[in-house]
Amino acid sequence: MVNIVESQTTKIREELLNLLRARTGFYLSGEEISVRLGVSRTAVWKNVNALRNQGYIIESYPRLGHKLKDVPDLLLPLEIKAHLKSKALGQNVYHFASIGSTQEYSFGLAQKGMSEGALVVAEEQTGGRGRRGRSYFSPRGGIWFSILLRPPLPPHMAPVISLAAGVALAEVAAELGLQSILLRWPNDVLIGGKKLSGILAEMSAEPDLLHFVILGIGINANMARDSFPEELRQMATSLELEIGQKVNRVEILCNVLQKLEKYYMQLLEKGPSSILEAWKSFPNILGKHVKVNSLDGVYEGVAAGLDEEGALLIKDDAGQQRKFVAGDVSVRGVS
Ligand code: BTN
Repeated sequence: MVNIVESQTTKIREELLNLLRARTGFYLSGEEISVRLGVSRTAVWKNVNALRNQGYIIESYPRLGHKLKDVPDLLLPLEIKAHLKSKALGQNVYHFASIGSTQEYSFGLAQKGMSEGALVVAEEQTGGRGRRGRSYFSPRGGIWFSILLRPPLPPHMAPVISLAAGVALAEVAAELGLQSILLRWPNDVLIGGKKLSGILAEMSAEPDLLHFVILGIGINANMARDSFPEELRQMATSLELEIGQKVNRVEILCNVLQKLEKYYMQLLEKGPSSILEAWKSFPNILGKHVKVNSLDGVYEGVAAGLDEEGALLIKDDAGQQRKFVAGDVSVRGVS
């Protein structure tokens, strides 16, 4: 029962916001809103106030009605809904002003049976998780989110999902006009040699059965140089730093979700080779001399290719080829 009431309230707020948005800059009378939404004038007031409490700037005068003046710079479900172009990814949104890690919360949702595409997004993470057990710097101004996927794939194919995410992010970066994009295997997107975003795909699986994947993505969006700790300044960049102005984080997030859905569907319909081709179509580390820091040591050589499951092939000076399914890659001359 509570859920039905909650979803009706959300629907009314969504429609109210749509009406106000469609008439941005103009007043819309309480009378007209109440007729169009099929609710009382009191309900209109209540919901206008609820939107104000979420950070929407709405001007109201008794004779004129209500005018939307500004929307909050937050990754709110109502904002995401208004910009979303993907069909499944992001239809259910869980938003947090602050959270330990969106990965952890998504795992909880997945274990409770939540359907594919659920999006957990936060303004900041206090315990952001990076690859290989590292912590991940995720303050306000960035875009930190996790997506629940239930791919009908064997577990050994899961790494290709994070390659697909890298491609989606690189495509968004290219659309924003960013130059010097480099895909650093397995899934970092570098701009001018500095890391713009990180991807972490964690899964729940049995040896031959994949239950779900939590795909975590962090994008340094509106972050100034001095918002990074000293030790990250040489290695990391942000959209704000690269573009020279702040970006609309909701639009970027929705664009990433749309591209991600496109490549995810491509993976399911056409198989991993189509993703590997897309990955290779962006500037990447293949052909470069790299160092791979893996669990069983550090290896150097030329990045010779990717195998059919996305593993990295390195050829050393002696011409010997080695395959890596995980590891940190550093490229000579690149951070
Ligand atoms: C890496 O580069 O090491 C991967 C970083 C992944 C960070 C994202 S931010 C959203 C999601 N929640 C987390 O705790 N981690 C991922």
